[in-house]
Amino acid sequence: MNTDTHVSNRWSSRYAYILAATGAAVGLGNIWKFPYIMGENGGGAFVFVYLLCIFLIGVPVMMAEVVIGKRGRSTPANAMTHVATESGHSSHWSIIGSIGVLAGFLILSFYAVIAGWAAAYVFFAGAGEFSAAAADPATNADVIGALFTDLITSVPQLLIWTTLTIVAVVYVISKGVKEGLETAITYLMPTLFILLFGIMIYSAIVGDFAAAFTFMFHIDFSQLTIEGALVALGHAFFTLSLAMGIMMIYGAYLPKGVSIVKTSMMIAVADTVVALIAGLAIYPIVFAHGLEPSAGPGLLFQSLPLAFGSMPFGDFVGVLFFVMVVFAAFTSAIALLESPTAYLVERQNVSRTKAAIIAGAAVWILSLCTIYSFAGAEWTKLSFGMGGDIFEFLDYLTANILLPLGGILISIFAGWVIKPEILKEEFNLSDKYFAIVLTLLRYVAPIGILLVFLNAIGLFK
Ligand code: PHE
Ligand code: NA
Repeated sequence: MNTDTHVSNRWSSRYAYILAATGAAVGLGNIWKFPYIMGENGGGAFVFVYLLCIFLIGVPVMMAEVVIGKRGRSTPANAMTHVATESGHSSHWSIIGSIGVLAGFLILSFYAVIAGWAAAYVFFAGAGEFSAAAADPATNADVIGALFTDLITSVPQLLIWTTLTIVAVVYVISKGVKEGLETAITYLMPTLFILLFGIMIYSAIVGDFAAAFTFMFHIDFSQLTIEGALVALGHAFFTLSLAMGIMMIYGAYLPKGVSIVKTSMMIAVADTVVALIAGLAIYPIVFAHGLEPSAGPGLLFQSLPLAFGSMPFGDFVGVLFFVMVVFAAFTSAIALLESPTAYLVERQNVSRTKAAIIAGAAVWILSLCTIYSFAGAEWTKLSFGMGGDIFEFLDYLTANILLPLGGILISIFAGWVIKPEILKEEFNLSDKYFAIVLTLLRYVAPIGILLVFLNAIGLFK
């Protein structure tokens, strides 16, 4: 079996590792998905549950994944097998790796389409569409709305953007992760952050910041359904890139002496801050223009362009913003394609380039389902009692079923299968803190996930 994969000596430093992991974490999940699912699920209470999920379940699971990758020094399925046998258990646990590969593959099929929307918006901003729309405040929101609808119903445009995205991702993956990427992320993260922060300030001034703040931080549990809690949980995994083997791959060549606990916390905090700022940038505009918080996947694309339209140098800021979104999506998409590629290299023994092309081609074919779903094609409408379309189905299956399932298995694996001494050594924590982390992994994470999950699928009704 080919264990000598691309991951060898990848991270030149602790800093490089943090950059790569943060690059994978911060993406469309923060800027596009978090704001709209928060809106669909009632705001503050959702945010509260989401934060609990991030820090009580997400962070411990991330730490576990990194340890598995680091201990196994290999790609996910092999690493799991290695760590399981090292602790005297069977190798069947590597099934977790397979769930992750499937989830990563399915997610990328719609992730690439949304990244394509952002790419198209770079050109809309550049062409001055946003400021043109702003000329008449009475029709502003309608014009911006129509721009979005025209885009998502234009199959040829989306085919071009999605194809370009996937080809670019396949190219980077087949070359192995390049230093260029490290450099890109070094500049990308601060720029994205400053830009988002600036947009948030602008939104606060021209929009309804008070309403946005109350919506996001006033905790009213009557607004939260159990279904919403599951969405929050699933998104915690999605946004931190967990349960897909990604953090195992990234952890596999973690330099010695890097604190797994500290870096995991840093990544989670950075990811959370970006998501919250994105929300605080979008919602003042949403409320000021009478848009619906529950507008769904179009929310980002129908709200911020209104702000760019009226902002000084708004077309330029718009271009910059969507370029940043494309980059952030791209660094995540690379991580997403990494897991099916690594799987093919490891299990099917094909070359890395071939593996990337095969995985990319399969993703492309499946992406058609999402493209046609948004275009409203009849064949994408699901009938088997689920309502919705194939995009919604893929989103639900991955975020609400596969990721929580992977999360349960990883926390059980880390809490009960891996020898606690190994964990303790790797986490390098005092007895007191280690006891807390072990409790989170052994009880809080698996039981929490199970309760939310079983509730949401209606077992307790
Ligand atoms: N975490 C990324 C985001 O929030 C999505 C992602 C998931 C990337 C899994 C890599 C692996 O956009
Ligand atoms: Na994220």
